[in-house]
Amino acid sequence: MIFTVAIDGPAAAGKGTISRAVADAFGFAHLDTGALYRAVGAMGGDPVLAARNLVPEDLVRDDLRTLGAGQAASRVAVIPEVRAALLDFQRRFARRAGGAVLDGRDIGTVICPEAEVKLFVTASAQVRAHRRWLELGGDAAQVLAEVRERDDRDMNRADAPLKPATDAVMLDTSDLAVAAAIDRAVAVVRARL
Ligand code: C5P
Repeated sequence: MIFTVAIDGPAAAGKGTISRAVADAFGFAHLDTGALYRAVGAMGGDPVLAARNLVPEDLVRDDLRTLGAGQAASRVAVIPEVRAALLDFQRRFARRAGGAVLDGRDIGTVICPEAEVKLFVTASAQVRAHRRWLELGGDAAQVLAEVRERDDRDMNRADAPLKPATDAVMLDTSDLAVAAAIDRAVAVVRARL
């Protein structure tokens, strides 16, 4: 069976948690596409070459979850040649046999416009910054500023900006407990299977 669930949204909206839970619920494979951009950003040197030569081991470095790695990722993510180098891998993953969940910024709009299910997961910048701060600590005001800076860069870039696909189901997690957000996402997928 070929079945793609595209989950897009801004940083710390809950995409990762929801994506893993949806993949587990249906036995689908899961790809966190942000990890590709984080790995390219962390590599240093020429980002286009880094994207072209990316190997799976690059995705499991343990310094990829930091705020700095997120900022570096969003800076290399504006480069069209970087995005082009990562496209085929993501498309093949999306259409693999057995079902796939991909989370990112442009899955429903650019990588897999034919996805069977598209979810756009959001939450207010304050709620998302608070979650990141609980996870990573640091100065709360700076975490909020970084979340806003990254939103701004992701939404306003020319190539594959962050925006909901016209046929995406919107899921605002600002006032939802994790379990409730997962239940809604699973219900949307089940209704289309
Ligand atoms: O989702 P995550 O926070 O790990 O993504 C890091 C950065 O990678 C994002 O801020 C965005 O700039 C970039 N990204 C992207 N397209 C994707 C996934 C991530 O441009 N599909």
